[in-house]
Amino acid sequence: MTASQTPIARRPATHPASGSRGANIVTVASGKGGVGKTWLAITLAHAFARNGRHALLFDGDLGLANADIQLGLMPESDLGAVVAGKLRLDQAVTPVDAGGFDIIAGKSGSGALATMHPDRLATLRDDLIDMAANYEAVILDLGAGIDGAVRTLADNAGPKLVVTTAEPTALTDAYAFIKVVNSRQPGADLRVVVNMAANSKDGERTYNKLLKACQGFLRIRPPLAGIIRADPNIPDSIRHQTPLLTRHPATPAAADVEAMIGRLRILS
Ligand SMILES: Nc1ncnc2c1ncn2[C@@H]1O[C@H](COP(=O)(O)OP(=O)(O)OP(=O)(O)O)[C@@H](O)[C@H]1O
Ligand SMILES: [Mg+2]
Repeated sequence: MTASQTPIARRPATHPASGSRGANIVTVASGKGGVGKTWLAITLAHAFARNGRHALLFDGDLGLANADIQLGLMPESDLGAVVAGKLRLDQAVTPVDAGGFDIIAGKSGSGALATMHPDRLATLRDDLIDMAANYEAVILDLGAGIDGAVRTLADNAGPKLVVTTAEPTALTDAYAFIKVVNSRQPGADLRVVVNMAANSKDGERTYNKLLKACQGFLRIRPPLAGIIRADPNIPDSIRHQTPLLTRHPATPAAADVEAMIGRLRILS
């Protein structure tokens, strides 16, 4: 078989920084809902693309997928067709023309994905890890909480960004997520993102509260991946179903995400 005939899902890895499979998958998780995971996952994929990186956004919120809605897309294929056995994962990819990255859209509200058999979920995760070899960065948007689907999908070699806000409930749920993943995968690459911070001092205070709990009870120190300021241009761009970096490229939250991808170090 010549290189041009090689099936796309089997091409050799492009640039994952550490050699291990799936190390270029950036998982975006939280614990509590509504803290900005989907917006952050979209904006990270877009920021990687703007930096010339081949990026894929995977909507792994199997219950309430909505990355496509935030982006104003009407994808012809989604994960529903993959799970129904009608498409391979690589056939469910839709290009996001406005962002220069690819998406595998979820299927919202059908229930079929939320109740997937654990073995099928693990296969889906493994297929995504295989597909990640075709990309420089894969961003995995997870649903809120720590249910079986979230745990299975998060079980990959890449960094796991745990998003929290300053709210005590968001902090408690972020801690619960860290605790569960750390016990399931000791040494997992967990990192904290503080979203909707009033300013960087406020963001650092929030991070330090979570760090204290992680140090005290789990004896781990998940590093700070970044602080994203509260920014009214985010709800504005979501209302207009247009990526933030297209509609408001110079807004404070855009600068915060651009700074974060420089520190993620998943690329060589
Ligand atoms: N830094 C921010 N400043 C202001 N608003 C924000 C910020 N980040 C996110 N938001 C707002 O928070 C809301 C929730 O965002 P998003 O849907 O991305 O959260 P989520 O964590 O994916 O939610 P779910 O758990 O339901 O999947 C959106 O309406 C968005 O506009
Ligand atoms: Mg979401």
